Amino acid sequence: MPIKQIDYSTKEYAQMIKLRYEILRKPLHIEFDEEELLKEKNDILIGAFDEDKMLGCCLLKEVDKNCVRLRQMAVQNNLQGKGIGASMMNFAENIARDRGYKRLIMHARKTAIGFYEKLGYKVTGKEFEEISIPHVIMEKTLRMF
Ligand SMILES: CC(C)(COP(=O)(O)OP(=O)(O)OC[C@H]1O[C@@H](n2cnc3c(N)ncnc32)[C@H](O)[C@@H]1OP(=O)(O)O)[C@@H](O)C(=O)NCCC(=O)NCCS
Repeated sequence: MPIKQIDYSTKEYAQMIKLRYEILRKPLHIEFDEEELLKEKNDILIGAFDEDKMLGCCLLKEVDKNCVRLRQMAVQNNLQGKGIGASMMNFAENIARDRGYKRLIMHARKTAIGFYEKLGYKVTGKEFEEISIPHVIMEKTLRMF
């Protein structure tokens, strides 16, 4: 299963938006905000593929020169639990390390805490509500120097 970085405003990016909508937004009856998408131009966009079909996606957004934030992690409904999410996280962490980021953080949905814990992430703060559902901040140190 190839995992690769994809470019903004491409066919793959359109696939990513569709997948994110299906998995993350539609169940909550929330649409994408155009302004939010425009801000993804400089993000690190990642997709897992089976030939042309996108199986999963996520993105990394710079917080500051030492820290990057994971967003929009989603795997196709019928393919969850097969290791795709963990492989994408591994890929994302390696890119982040290569670019010199020392910490990776995310606003994790409460339902996904166990997934991130298995990959070494720790909850760092209190629960809060975002897009109408409970979240927590989680983080992991990627490199010391
Ligand atoms: C959460 C999600 C990205 C995980 O990806 P995935 O491909 O299903 O996960 P993997 O198969 O790589 O799982 C890796 C490990 O985490 C566990 N895991 C996966 N999802 C989990 C969850 N929601 N809670 C607890 N553990 C979970 C798996 O059982 C597996 O454990 P193992 O190593 O002991 O076998 C995916 O299920 C998904 O898209 N869910 C819906 C959207 C979502 O919640 N996104 C995250 C927003 S913060």
